[in-house]
Amino acid sequence: MAADITENHALRLVIDGRSILLTRWQGVVYAVSGRCPHAGADLSVGRLANGRIECPMHGWKFNLTNGKPLYPPDEGRPLRVYPVQIIDGVVWVGEG
Ligand code: FES
Repeated sequence: MAADITENHALRLVIDGRSILLTRWQGVVYAVSGRCPHAGADLSVGRLANGRIECPMHGWKFNLTNGKPLYPPDEGRPLRVYPVQIIDGVVWVGEG
């Protein structure tokens, strides 16, 4: 349920074999890949703050709202972001 998803915490799900994190930023629910695009680290144990997620392995940072890499500045591999719909309090995650 959408109410279970809180700011700066990640709820990890496996959907069709894919690790997906659900989190909330400024009231909006986002769904992103649970695997870092750099070397596949588990982002569910990464640091979430200010609309960003930081990978626990090498410290890459991504914007949660659009997946854009924020650090290091010369890297272009984005974090996959999935479309989210909330219908009657239920979270639906699309293909993205
Ligand atoms: S695996 Fe995430 S920054 Fe290297």
